[in-house]
Amino acid sequence: MSMKKILCIVGARPNFMKIAPIMRAFREQAPEIEAKLVHTGQHYDYAMNEAFFQQLEIPAPDISLEVGSGSHAQQTAEIMKRFEAVVDAEQPDCVLVVGDVNSTIACALVAAKKGVKVVHVEAGLRSRDRSMPEEINRILTDQLSDRLYVTEREAVANLRAEGVAEHRVVFAGNVMIDTLMHNLPRAVPAERTIAEACARAKSLRSAATFLESDHGYAVLTLHRPSNVDDHVVLGRLLAVLEDHCYKLPLVFPVHPRTQVKIREAGYSRFLENPQVLALPPIGYLEMLGLMKGARVVLTDSGGLQEETTALGIPCLTLRENTERPITITEGTNILVGTDTLSIAKELGRVMTHIDVQMNRPELWDGCAAIRIVKDIQRAL
Ligand code: UD1
Repeated sequence: MSMKKILCIVGARPNFMKIAPIMRAFREQAPEIEAKLVHTGQHYDYAMNEAFFQQLEIPAPDISLEVGSGSHAQQTAEIMKRFEAVVDAEQPDCVLVVGDVNSTIACALVAAKKGVKVVHVEAGLRSRDRSMPEEINRILTDQLSDRLYVTEREAVANLRAEGVAEHRVVFAGNVMIDTLMHNLPRAVPAERTIAEACARAKSLRSAATFLESDHGYAVLTLHRPSNVDDHVVLGRLLAVLEDHCYKLPLVFPVHPRTQVKIREAGYSRFLENPQVLALPPIGYLEMLGLMKGARVVLTDSGGLQEETTALGIPCLTLRENTERPITITEGTNILVGTDTLSIAKELGRVMTHIDVQMNRPELWDGCAAIRIVKDIQRAL
């Protein structure tokens, strides 16, 4: 019997923390399967890409497609064209995709059309908001997949409602939390990240502003098109956060697209406020430390909603919906949307109360990748 081959796909930053424990589990648990890593190159900046490979000890990609940025159609099409040639050359038994980015759907579609089995890790999440590019990617990827690993039970019901055969769906837990638990002991202390950033900024900012404030500091991340591409929404969000930063200073690692949008919209003075510490995109271990030390995390990211739940840190999600409802029902997440009043109200609450409900969701136990790899081993 010849060795089975699986191509594992990554493309963008949120994929890296998901693939790290999967590659490790293949290495340690399934030496009879040849797992090759394919990087589409959707994210390519050092800080968005290589820094994560180093910190998370992901092996260097076996194959790099180097597609770079573009419109959704251009980016997806370019990945498909280049990945098709890889499938032809490699003849894999199976293609494994994670998450919901353009690289996920592009590679799943190529594999499905070639009759190669598709495995989707983090299947079944639904925001029910089709204006979100990721929601389209999720729905279509799940329809194309032969085996679907879900992180929470509600995802099973979502897939059933869309007609996905139940025997394909496996509740395996959350690989992002595998990565969090594995790396927590190595997290870079927030004091260090903040002190170094203040020293670099050579400005009015002092680390004491963030580390010795009565209420602690908040961490902010923003990058969803619905929040940053619309000048009105972006302006409204930055205004309410600026109102609060005198009591609750903000540490803000800025996504490249957000950096561009803030400049274009003429809001650069937000980044110059001495109560706001803007950072270039930071590493995983730095982010983990920053979140662990924060009073609250304000975000529109999907992954941070889960990481704050696992860490027991309050999270205010700056979106109208979430595809990760368990972070609300069992975790620390509150959906505040983009309305000034509701953001102000919840910020006021987290500054005066510390009553975080702590309940680690079922199977968010650090062993999800091992369960997934053992299941693939059986299925192959
Ligand atoms: C992508 C994912 C999103 C994920 C996010 C995390 C899709 C549809 N979206 O969004 O789900 O939450 O990654 O970061 O796949 N850019 C750089 N350097 C880079 C990468 C991007 O400067 O290394 C800039 C470019 O101007 C680019 C823009 O960011 O046009 C957007 O990048 P893109 O990969 O299209 O989507 P993200 O917004 O990063």
